[in-house]
Amino acid sequence: MANEVRQTMTQFWEEHSRDATVEEMMLDSSAALLSQEEKPEIISLLPCLDGLNVTAGARGWDREMHMYISCNEQTLTLLKRLMSIRYTGHLAKLASNVTAVDFMQNFIDKNREDNGYRGNITFLQADVTLLDFPNNTFDFVFSNWLFMYLTDEELVVLIEKMLGWLRPGGYLFFRESCFFQSGDCERTFNPTVYRTPAQYNHLLTSVTSKSGDNGFEIVMSKSVQTYIKIKKNQNQVCWMLQKVPRDADGHQGYTTFQQFLDNQQYSRRGILRYEKIFGDGFVSTGGLETTKVRPVQKTNIRGSGDTVFKMQEILSFLHLQEFIAMLNLVPGQRVIDVGCGIGGGDFYMAKTYGVDVLGMDLSSNMVEIAMERAIMERTPKVQFEIGDATRRIFTDASFDVVYSRDTILHINDKGALFRKFFTWLKPGGKLLITDYCCGDRPWSPVFEEYVKQRGYILYTPKEYGQFLEKVGFVKVQALDRTEQFVQVLNKELARTQEIKQDFLESFSEEDYNYIIEGWKEKLHRCSLGDQRWGLFLAEKPLDLIS
Ligand SMILES: C[S@@+](CC[C@H](N)C(=O)[O-])C[C@H]1O[C@@H](n2cnc3c(N)ncnc32)[C@H](O)[C@@H]1O
Repeated sequence: MANEVRQTMTQFWEEHSRDATVEEMMLDSSAALLSQEEKPEIISLLPCLDGLNVTAGARGWDREMHMYISCNEQTLTLLKRLMSIRYTGHLAKLASNVTAVDFMQNFIDKNREDNGYRGNITFLQADVTLLDFPNNTFDFVFSNWLFMYLTDEELVVLIEKMLGWLRPGGYLFFRESCFFQSGDCERTFNPTVYRTPAQYNHLLTSVTSKSGDNGFEIVMSKSVQTYIKIKKNQNQVCWMLQKVPRDADGHQGYTTFQQFLDNQQYSRRGILRYEKIFGDGFVSTGGLETTKVRPVQKTNIRGSGDTVFKMQEILSFLHLQEFIAMLNLVPGQRVIDVGCGIGGGDFYMAKTYGVDVLGMDLSSNMVEIAMERAIMERTPKVQFEIGDATRRIFTDASFDVVYSRDTILHINDKGALFRKFFTWLKPGGKLLITDYCCGDRPWSPVFEEYVKQRGYILYTPKEYGQFLEKVGFVKVQALDRTEQFVQVLNKELARTQEIKQDFLESFSEEDYNYIIEGWKEKLHRCSLGDQRWGLFLAEKPLDLIS
């Protein structure tokens, strides 16, 4: 059976490698245009390579910068099935050694012809399923359109091997066609395996190294934007994974933190149930109300005779206005929403202010729903990706604004995360965070239990602000907004009770009670002074003294 599969694949690629042209490699008649557009896009996603251009590494205070440099000094493997000619040269410019593998001799010959002069590339004609290298040989494995030509069994064996070949902390980048064929080139037969992104996620993160103590965790996964732009095709998907130690007790019984999020708090049903109470597109406090700038409504207070504002409305206006308005967004600015959920705030910012938004969330359920909504919203200004904020790497000064709503409660090392935000921002860039916080210790047993069960890591608003200052942010405002939180919770509770019948059309009585009880418990924990909510604003200084 395994031999038969290998023979079929060989036959398929013999048919499509006769002239070793880019059209053959990409199996598409628009290959030249696609190739020209997507190459810089793919390259910009490769942290080691991109990072090498970042001379800021010399500052020496960012761990990743050291990694980039050591990557250059060591070895980088290029384990690719196709398009070697398009990527090998670029990778070889940056790494000290590149091993380029393909099982079609024609492609290898053409690659050697184009890139052999560089002197640091080993060209290897080999079937990847038979390939082997010693453990801890490489820092980086790059693979483009390879896994879709392997069966699940072959892929599992290869992933296990790759986990061995990579050094601890090393990266695997790969890209595949998902769901169905993308290229328009005629094929007499097509043995390609078109998996869903979820299937790749599952396969890649469920395998462990032979010793059982290492596995892959997701850094980033997203659709290749070039294919969306040119072919309206979202099904070209790429991934960046990192080899990390497996921690059996680390994620409340789940192998990875992503699995914990997707299966516990953010199952698809759980998300939609939250959305019902927070409002369309949102899974955090106040939904659109705490996101947008809302004009004040005048209310006629009975007995006064005049049209005046109710005090509560004035207060609530002041709160509301502060959120996005404080960022002074300008069309064309780049915003990253860390823990974007299902994207309501991102569509709002893009449509209202003309900014370009990257919504990043580690939960694949969240991003799946966000992408479904993006099809309806039809705004090219918003992109989504599955990404782990604690592992994701961007070139310095990539964004004007870092925005994050009720997400960082999930993240352990706030200082390390804020250091990342600092590097991602342009000088003068702005940060806006809302997050669950806590009161001073000791906490009540109910709050202790709640925090433990959710796996949250909470600080007081003051401590939170100190983390930001320590990293180098200026104009830090750490505001305790618990009062506003309580107001919003009461409103959400009342609204849910009002729409009970409607709620029960989509969800069960148990779901309804879960929400009602959950909100009452939040209010109780706030009344004890334990649960608090913070709003944080800060800026990266315009001038950095190095
Ligand atoms: C309460 S939801 C808020 C979603 C969204 N910000 C909103 O306001 O609707 C928190 C989000 O944080 C995401 N998250 C948790 N840890 C993350 C990480 N390390 N990187 C990226 N997202 C993360 C979760 O998957 C979840 O979608």
